[in-house]
Amino acid sequence: MDIYLEYILDHYKNPRNYGTLENPDISHEEGNPYCGDVIRFDLKIEDNKIVDVRFSGKGCTISQAAASILTEMIKGKDLDEVKKLTKEDMLEALGIPVGPTRIKCALLGLKVLKSGLYGLKGWPGEEEEEE
Ligand code: FES
Repeated sequence: MDIYLEYILDHYKNPRNYGTLENPDISHEEGNPYCGDVIRFDLKIEDNKIVDVRFSGKGCTISQAAASILTEMIKGKDLDEVKKLTKEDMLEALGIPVGPTRIKCALLGLKVLKSGLYGLKGWPGEEEEEE
């Protein structure tokens, strides 16, 4: 099997940082309006850094695997760095080519995260175009 596909499936089957936090500083859940899949992020913030993170949700393999990968990308990171994460960064982290029909699956986690943390609306890469 393709090594990257295996990587995605592993994150889907054994999601990292899965669950909820007891006293999160931020807890935010949103869905993909196109399919109804949802992702929630719980975050602990200290000194402008994400010191702990959990995600939960339900949805397709790519959306859940991408959220799991994203938790590993942001843990311990400065909020300013996280804000700069782009659509391209997320797609690159997935490592597999994602076709146009699955782009929103791949970006759902990043969308929910940015909406919860910074109030950014819209899909990554299109935030400025929506309110
Ligand atoms: Fe819903 Fe992938 S099918 S996020």
